[in-house]
Amino acid sequence: MTIKVSVIGASGYVGGELLRILLTHRDVEIVNATSRQHAGEYVHKVHPNLKGMTNLKFSGEDAVAAAAKADVAFLALPHKASVQVVPKLMETGVRIIDMSADYRLKDPGKYVEWYGYAHPYPDLLKKFVYGLPELHREELRGAKYVSAPGCMAASAIIGLAPLMKAFEATGPIVVDAKIGSSGAGGKPSPSTHFSERFGVIRPYKPAGHRHAAEIEQELSIVSGRDIKVAMSAHAVNIVRGILTTSHVFLTEAPTQQQLWKAYRDMYGSEPFVRFMMDRTGLYRYPDPKVVIGSNFADVGFAVESRLKRVIALSAIDNLIKGAAGSAVQSMNLMFGLDEREGLNVPAIHPV
Ligand SMILES: NC(=O)c1ccc[n+]([C@@H]2O[C@H](COP(=O)([O-])OP(=O)(O)OC[C@H]3O[C@@H](n4cnc5c(N)ncnc54)[C@H](OP(=O)(O)O)[C@@H]3O)[C@@H](O)[C@H]2O)c1
Repeated sequence: MTIKVSVIGASGYVGGELLRILLTHRDVEIVNATSRQHAGEYVHKVHPNLKGMTNLKFSGEDAVAAAAKADVAFLALPHKASVQVVPKLMETGVRIIDMSADYRLKDPGKYVEWYGYAHPYPDLLKKFVYGLPELHREELRGAKYVSAPGCMAASAIIGLAPLMKAFEATGPIVVDAKIGSSGAGGKPSPSTHFSERFGVIRPYKPAGHRHAAEIEQELSIVSGRDIKVAMSAHAVNIVRGILTTSHVFLTEAPTQQQLWKAYRDMYGSEPFVRFMMDRTGLYRYPDPKVVIGSNFADVGFAVESRLKRVIALSAIDNLIKGAAGSAVQSMNLMFGLDEREGLNVPAIHPV
């Protein structure tokens, strides 16, 4: 089977990672990669790592014209650009994987609460599957429309889901997220300017981060309870990678065996989740440094019995497991392929 793929917004960081992964995918032909600013230029002029891998040029076509030539369109557009494009693409019959936040939340009211606008197409939200295979594998098989998770949300949800499924927390979950500069995308801004961004440990959103909305949504589904998340996000001095350190307070401190069971029950046969719980060595707990370039999510935990606190740790590459990798994994499930296809590569080390 050859799947014809269109990448809309291919000049951005997520678009570039989608191209990199899809170029070596055995069942994919990239029929076009769009950019308004770079139309007609070779893809490698913007993504120099792809030189020698493809002679593809950016297409200046609009999203509808480009996607009409494909079986599936990845929308790697900014928040609030996808929202208007999606209904038009649906009319063409193409399958859609949206990378933005525009179709992630099931409850339209949450767009008002967290994003400050009334969703213009609330009826379409239920048509999308949340694109995290670890939680929604069966729904993704054969799905037509997928909304890929937010990068910090993916990390937090993967780290916390087994815990929330197996145990009942006494109150809100505290999620502390640290992210590299590529999380802000390729468009420069004063806060991403090297002189201001280099060397920071910047609490850029100590309260009210929007990804909390989808973390609450997904952890509530997995646990069957109404979960609340207190999230703080920090910009740190790396280009790629996310570490989430989440704090869960329970009525009783669980044993190590109970925790291992919870994580093994959920992730024992997951192709891209690794347990980082070693007694020796440098990397005893999840660390973004050893997932960079891969689709792996590394998870681990620690217990502080005195406070009945469990600390859930998770590390991912924001542009891969937090974006393009999960999206391709979802595409593989949508088309009935081996979900590892195109993604079965180790991380880069050292980086
Ligand atoms: N960066 C991450 O770690 C990450 C992780 C998960 C999800 N995401 C989400 O993925 C999406 C893409 O993120 P990114 O980091 O790749 O952003 P980016 O680097 O800024 O790229 C955005 C792309 O969209 C195009 N574009 C911008 N405005 C547009 C508009 N109004 N209409 C059509 N095309 C437009 C841009 O190219 P032209 O201007 O040349 O057309 C560019 O190709 C966002 O929704 C983001 O929230 C990002």
